[in-house]
Amino acid sequence: MKQIIVGNWKMNGLSAEADALVEGLATELTALPTRADVVVCPPFTQLARLAPKLKAAGIALGAQDCHKDASGAHTGDISPPMLVDLGVEYVILGHSERRAEHHELDETVREKAVAAMAAGLTPIVCVGENDDQRSSGDSQATVGWQLEGSLPQGFRGIVAYEPIWAIGTGQAASQQDIADMSAFIRAELVRQFGEAGKTIRILYGGSVNARNVTDILPVEHVDGALVGNASLKAESFVPLVRAAR
Ligand code: G3H
Repeated sequence: MKQIIVGNWKMNGLSAEADALVEGLATELTALPTRADVVVCPPFTQLARLAPKLKAAGIALGAQDCHKDASGAHTGDISPPMLVDLGVEYVILGHSERRAEHHELDETVREKAVAAMAAGLTPIVCVGENDDQRSSGDSQATVGWQLEGSLPQGFRGIVAYEPIWAIGTGQAASQQDIADMSAFIRAELVRQFGEAGKTIRILYGGSVNARNVTDILPVEHVDGALVGNASLKAESFVPLVRAAR
């Protein structure tokens, strides 16, 4: 399966720095095209202005969340058709920061995934255990429940495994942990969706950087990476893209 590298800028990027970052990516990636798919997910405020620049560079545009409804009385929210209207193709759903800060449940994530797919977006659904769940040996059980609860019937998207304890810490999960969890997720996807579960891309996220990416991307069942900090500079993001197959 073709790998995909997704940059999640989170709540970073005023206009000047966003422009500079995209210019840097465009220069590097058009000079030496990559085999992998590349997606950049800036904050909502930058989507419209970055859309044409990213498209010209062959980079797909993603958003970091969406509402479950197409329109209506939801002050401050953004719907999937609004994202499509701007040229967005992917949407991250159920990131652990949204699950924690916005009290999103598996059910919320599942409803958003349904809405995203209906609008023609590719949802990137995040799952992952926290430190306590890991220490008590419940990592796979936690991820299993999240997959069961967050992925709707007929899911056609991407799953990102992001152990919460590895996000933003500089300490990625070990190659063995990533291999074990990716194999578990693949088996769960096949159990839930049959043959189609074999075609769902599985990403690893959590402190991916230029030093560890060559250990992570070759792991069986890892079909790419979801990258936070290292996606905020062209010089730290481009090597990850180059490492993908
Ligand atoms: O969405 C991205 C992840 O939360 C990973 O962030 O690469 O800064 O650890 P990080």
